[in-house]
Amino acid sequence: MPREDDVGTLQGRDLLSSADLTREEYEQVFDTAAELKREFRATRRHEAAPLAGRHVALIFEKQSLRTRVTFEAGLNQLGGHALHLGEGIGFGVRESVSDIAHNLDRWVDGIVIRTFDHSVVTELAGEAGIPVFNALTDDEHPFQALADLLTLREHFGSLRGLVLTFIGDGNNVFASLALAGAMLGMEVRLAHPDGYGPKPAIVARARELAEQNQGRIVLGSDPRKLVPGSDALYTDVWVSMGQEEQAHARSAAFSGYTVDDELLDLAGPRAMAMHCLPAHRGQEITAAALDGPRSLALEQAENRLHVQKAFIVESIGV
Ligand code: CP
Ligand code: NVA
Repeated sequence: MPREDDVGTLQGRDLLSSADLTREEYEQVFDTAAELKREFRATRRHEAAPLAGRHVALIFEKQSLRTRVTFEAGLNQLGGHALHLGEGIGFGVRESVSDIAHNLDRWVDGIVIRTFDHSVVTELAGEAGIPVFNALTDDEHPFQALADLLTLREHFGSLRGLVLTFIGDGNNVFASLALAGAMLGMEVRLAHPDGYGPKPAIVARARELAEQNQGRIVLGSDPRKLVPGSDALYTDVWVSMGQEEQAHARSAAFSGYTVDDELLDLAGPRAMAMHCLPAHRGQEITAAALDGPRSLALEQAENRLHVQKAFIVESIGV
């Protein structure tokens, strides 16, 4: 936990995209998260209250279990206060995003937002004078990537040179993992069916970051060709929130993209299964792989709490 005189580079910072943080800033968040995790695991509470008097508004326009609970509980555990705004504010309908931003920054110290269009989050952050924390958009899920990389760092000891292969949709979760992994010198691969790749701008940015940090981004279509030599096989739902009307087409396109024990065997002797959850057992991952001894899914979920606390303490802690 930072000392009172420890004014870090993350003070007052938003987290909108996984490309927003430097390698050093990632390490700073991981170190703070590890310390908060040790303390919380020992006593289920924290000695200090670095968020005392701090209020953070939570806006969720999509469903959530993990993100909502971990932000809300994490803020409260550190002496802060989470205000869940719910449906009642008519976000962007009753009032414009910019009017909401200008009002909220007169009252509270930060905004957590889960929404559809990524531009809403960038607009909110541009208008609000207080930090904005992206709790998932159609384009990115940066706090998920932070938790996932902390999980890999704990499991393998370090991140540089690790190979993570994502099986399935080049979606928001993949985008944030590719950007963060590239920044941290990992090799991030994606096996996706035709027409379900990542946005070209994400691939271009991730490749640029990989180049600068000795990482690598590899895209392909055949999971069996891409997984050998992987340390982790990561998957996510085939139908993300907001894509429900594409469910039928997607379930046909993704057949053959299921993570199972055989694929883990093919990946290598130390390969672990990862999933951001919620999962659909029997679709993107088998029950045996998700619930078996090679799964890191619940460690990832646990680490959401610790990385989010760490980032918020660094950003708005007293
Ligand atoms: N992984 C994740 O973000 O879970 P929720 O959608 O339940 O928040
Ligand atoms: N890609 C999924 C992630 C859920 C945590 C979605 O956006 O619905």
